[in-house]
Formats: sequence, structure tokens, C-alpha cells
Amino acid sequence: MKRIKKISYISIVSAIICTIGCANTVLVSKTNNSTLATHFKGLFHLGAAINEEIILGNDQKSENIVTSEFNSITPENSLKWMFIHPKPNTFDFNTADRYVELGLKNDMYIVGHALVWHNQLADFMQNIDNAVEMQEYVTNHVNTVVSRYRGKIDAWDVVNEAFNEDGTLRKSVFFHNLGENYISDVFKLAEKADPEANLIYNDYNFYKQEKRAGILNMVKKLKSSGVKIDGVGVQAHWDLASPSLDQIEQIILDVHAAGVPVSFTELDISVLPNPWEMVGAEVTQNFSQFEGDSKMSPYPNQLPNKVQKQLAKRYHDIFQLFVKHSDKIERVTFWGVMDKHSWLNDWPIKGRTNYPLLFDRNYNPKLAYQSILEVETKQQN
Ligand code: G3I
Repeated sequence: MKRIKKISYISIVSAIICTIGCANTVLVSKTNNSTLATHFKGLFHLGAAINEEIILGNDQKSENIVTSEFNSITPENSLKWMFIHPKPNTFDFNTADRYVELGLKNDMYIVGHALVWHNQLADFMQNIDNAVEMQEYVTNHVNTVVSRYRGKIDAWDVVNEAFNEDGTLRKSVFFHNLGENYISDVFKLAEKADPEANLIYNDYNFYKQEKRAGILNMVKKLKSSGVKIDGVGVQAHWDLASPSLDQIEQIILDVHAAGVPVSFTELDISVLPNPWEMVGAEVTQNFSQFEGDSKMSPYPNQLPNKVQKQLAKRYHDIFQLFVKHSDKIERVTFWGVMDKHSWLNDWPIKGRTNYPLLFDRNYNPKLAYQSILEVETKQQN
């Protein structure tokens, strides 16, 4: 594990911090010198996804939280294909370079997200119908991007979200042109470009048995045919109740049994009503009928104490489980730094007020933050 750099932000012993303005009565008192990263040091890396504002130095408060509390970073959007390789022969590394500099300066475990993903792809890639052309673009993309950060980016999400919910391969533009071997080919290309980087397959909804089985069969196949794959990334966009702790434990055990470590790569806990439950079997990604509906965004001003405590308990329970299985877990990364900037304010319904992270809209640590620091880690140290 890389050395963890600790700076002054959180070394205020016993600071009493008011979490939600000061109108809310949930108080978080910091009782020791631990940061999230130091608390779990030696067990797993502790990371946060950072947006462009943080990368470019335009959000100093978030940056302070990131560099003091975490020892790993992931770019929320800035290394995705549409931004970094917008045209066939045009690469734009301005923001990506700043991202990597920030991680190096703070001695962090730097994650690259994501090399091959059907979403946030450049326009020129969307409608390709020619295997040779597709292979050329993919090869050029992986070679150019991975080589540029060789020895600097520690882990790559090499392929992202390639599976359907039933465990079959998604019929993406990559699959359409290159067939099912595109996954192993991309892993081989990444290895060639940086043999030392940790190469990860990343996806969501691992709690669904069929999907998990499909992905883990692919992992086992890659391993048995000698393709370098170093881990599985479980995104972990969860809510207060689902998936259950038993389901999460099963994910950890099954990934471990497939022969690779697990990373929880995009952890956040939504506290808002789930629109999928409201529309029953009519599952659709278009929930615009709920926009502005106060039932779907019941906490526009602040999170009630009761829910704040539920969130804290949920995070505490999850981290207890992570510590129990820390020998199988490489990294835990939160998908964002503070609630105001979370993608969950706009997905799956636009314009809601969600509270999924550890820092509130005033950049203060929430009860959930404290509850994680209270997780006992001694038995593993
Ligand atoms: O770049 C445009 C900008 O030009 C425009 O002015 C602005 C106006 O809304 O939109 C910008 O694009 C946004 C983009 O993020 C970059 O900021 C999109 O609207 C927005 O939908 C997009 O959302 C991102 C989403 O991936 C796209 O699928 C989220 O920020 C990001 O958190 C999310 O992250 C994904 C992981 O990469 C993979 N796993 C799931 C996770 C959550 O969806």
C-alpha cells in the first residue's frame, strides 16, 4: 500500500462540528486524530471520486477534505473517452494531467476510470459498424492513455459495465463490432501499455446473482487463459436497505472465490424514495413524471435526525463488514466528496436533494462520518 500522507485539516482534536447549518441537532464530535484513511490504514485504501472543479483547483474546501481524509482518488468524469479522446486523432489531456499531478503530489493511490465503457463515449465511436476501424480506435485509445500515465496511475477500470442484469454480455458498440473477445483483448492491451498497473473489471448490481455469476465466469475464464486481471470493482450505489448485509457479504465471498480481490469503487447511499418501486414492473429510465414531486424529494432543506441516524448506522454496518473481510478487499472509494455535488441529486430523477455521502452541503462531516470512524479495526492491525 502506498504511504499515506496526512495533513492538518482534521487534526483538530475534539472539535464540535454542527452538521446541518446549526438548525439540526445532530452534532458530530471528533474525538481523536484519525482520518478515514488512517483509521483503515493497512486494511484497504480509502478513496473519493473527484470532479473537474476539484481537479482544477476551483473547490479548495473539497480538495482539503480529499487530501486529508483519503489516500486514493478516482476521476468522476475527466478521464472518460468523450473528454479525453473526443475525435479520432484528437486527445485532450489537460484535465487528466492535472488529476494525476494532484494524486502524485499527495502520494495517493491513483485510479483511472474508465478505459472502455459504452457510456460517455466520444460521438465518433457511437455508430461504428466496422470491426477493423473499431479495433484501431480501441487499440489507439488504450495504448495512448495507459502509456501516458504508465507508473503513475496505479489501477485502471479497464472495462466498465459490460454485462446485462441477466449475466449476458451487453450488446454495446464494442460487442457489436468485436464480439465477446473484446474484453480479454482490452485487458491484454492495457497490460502491454503498463505491466505494473492493477487492471480491474468494474460494474454495478453485483447483488443480483445472475449478473454476478456472468461476470465472475468471465473473470475465471480470463484468469485460466492467462490474461492479467487484478481485481473486480463493485460500484456500490446502494440505499438504506438494499442490498442487505448478507448480500454484500456474499458478493465479497464470491469475488474472492473467483481468485481476485474486490474493490468497492463507487460507494454512496441514497436516502430518497426509489422511483422503481413507484412504477412497479414498468421499469423505465425516464422518470421525468416525478420531477418536482415533493414525495420523491422529501428533505429539500435538511435531513431529519432520524434519517441521519439511519444513514450513519447503515455506513457503520457496511464498514464493519468491510473490516471483517479486509483480507479480500483492496479499496473502498466514495462516489463524490460532499452531498451537494453528488450525481444522485439528478439521477434517476432530476433536481432532488439527496444526502448520500459523508460530508454535508457545508463541507462538514456528518454523523455517518463519525460512525465509520467508530468501527473497530484493532483485530486486523
Ligand atoms: O459535459 C457536460 C457539460 O458540457 C454540460 O454543460 C453539462 C450540463 O448538464 O453536462 C455535462 O455532462 C455531464 C457529465 O456528467 C459531466 O459532468 C452530464 O450531464 C451528466 O449526466 C454526467 O453524469 C455523470 C454520469 O456518470 C454519466 O453517466 C456523473 O457525473 C458521474 O458521477 C457518473 O458516474 C458513473 C460512473 O462513471 C460509472 N458508474 C456509474 C456512475 C454513476 O452513474
